[in-house]
Amino acid sequence: MLFIGIDLGTSATKLLLVDEKGAIKNEVSKEYPLFFPHPGWSEQSAMGWWKACLDGIPELLKGFDANEVVGIGSGGQMHGLVTLDKDDNPIRPAILWNDGRTGEETDYLNNVIGKEKLSKLTANIAFAGFTAPKILWMKKNEPDNFAKIAKIMLPKDYINYMLTGVHCCDYSDASGMLLLDVENKCWSKEMLDICGVKEEQMPKLFESYEVVGTVKDNVAERLGLPKGVKVVAGAGDNAAAAVGTGTVGKGHCNISLGTSGTIFISSDKFGVDPLNSLHAFAHADGGYHLMGCMLSAASCNKWLCEDVFGTDDYAKEQKDITDDKLGKNHVYFLPYLMGERSPINDVNARGTFTGITMDSTRSDLVQAVLEGVAFAIRDSFEVAKSIGISIPRSAICGGGSKSKLWCKIFANVLGIPLDIVKTEQGPGYGAAMLAMVGCNVYGSVIEASNALVEVVSTIEPDAKLTKRYEEAYAKYKKIYPALKAVFPEII
Ligand code: XUL
Repeated sequence: MLFIGIDLGTSATKLLLVDEKGAIKNEVSKEYPLFFPHPGWSEQSAMGWWKACLDGIPELLKGFDANEVVGIGSGGQMHGLVTLDKDDNPIRPAILWNDGRTGEETDYLNNVIGKEKLSKLTANIAFAGFTAPKILWMKKNEPDNFAKIAKIMLPKDYINYMLTGVHCCDYSDASGMLLLDVENKCWSKEMLDICGVKEEQMPKLFESYEVVGTVKDNVAERLGLPKGVKVVAGAGDNAAAAVGTGTVGKGHCNISLGTSGTIFISSDKFGVDPLNSLHAFAHADGGYHLMGCMLSAASCNKWLCEDVFGTDDYAKEQKDITDDKLGKNHVYFLPYLMGERSPINDVNARGTFTGITMDSTRSDLVQAVLEGVAFAIRDSFEVAKSIGISIPRSAICGGGSKSKLWCKIFANVLGIPLDIVKTEQGPGYGAAMLAMVGCNVYGSVIEASNALVEVVSTIEPDAKLTKRYEEAYAKYKKIYPALKAVFPEII
């Protein structure tokens, strides 16, 4: 039996072909552009995502017996607003999770509707990247487009729709729309009213591992798949990545270092951060999770190396950052290249180097970026600790975790051991596991995780480095408050 795991990312769609024992048989990646039509805006074509699947799936199957494929699951970038007209065509480019245009709408929701009410209805407050503020933005700024909306969905749901013809969404991804009553797993009628949306415009809700339908015959033929391949609802990419690292059930933690950076704490019970700095979402295993999300993580390093230094040799850029330098850098970096979500919720925040002197080197800047991202995750880690959550260790995954140095910095900034799993394939692997559960290979997501996820190495914190980073973090923490008032004036 074979399964396809789709990771609908921000820079590319990554496809995995996985057997029921969890072995990866093949992988294909199809890149697509990201558009920034105004500073702080971020858009992508939904058709581009589908084209990546149309081109990528036949390539993925080349050399394999496609008749063995029985299930497909996807994990997708969260929060993106995809709007379809009455003929199910996208009305406009999707507005993505890292788009910051909705400052006004976010303020309206948090201050006029009120955080308390939002939290009561949805377990969350408004953040600029969430879907509800985007709907309000479209209603105000593009009334003609808004009037055409027949269906609202999230990025991976568009792929599931193109595969099966079913308008569906899963609870983990739907949680990030600010339209879901997360605790009771149903659309919040009051939130839909606040956004001027009717329930029939929303997709049908499923658990991530539930089958929503089968691949349409004409699509199967185009993709080279047999008839009757099952498609599960899938999950938001962080929930799918968490499944892939065994972060399921009660009290486990995963750090994902992708374009965004997240700290994800799984729970078997519903719970809310009283200050709502952490998101309270449903999990793909049927439970819940708390999550802190920073908008630019590995993308800060990519930006510095590729856009500023003009190189993609990341290892070379990191080779001079030896142990004796860790925690001693006098250059600091705020990683707010797209504003910031957790925990500061500030669309105006900006990336900043500080502490540079004449003897600062290129390598100090790289180190400052790696450390700044780790410090920013620590901010959310501290919020979790402050509400009584114990995080004795965590898994770490995502493109950034391929750097041993960066993992070491994280382990010492957080002061906990970090586990690396054998099949570190992020959301696509977790999505394939969800498909296995949907096809009854495993009885539950937790059972699939117990059977398939294996920790292969652990990065232990070093007491000397942890102490140094404790002092450095105390200094880092003072930089954003000192600059907060300046940012709105310089954008
Ligand atoms: C999570 C979030 C990001 C995107 C990245 O809330 O916005 O992690 O899901 O794809």
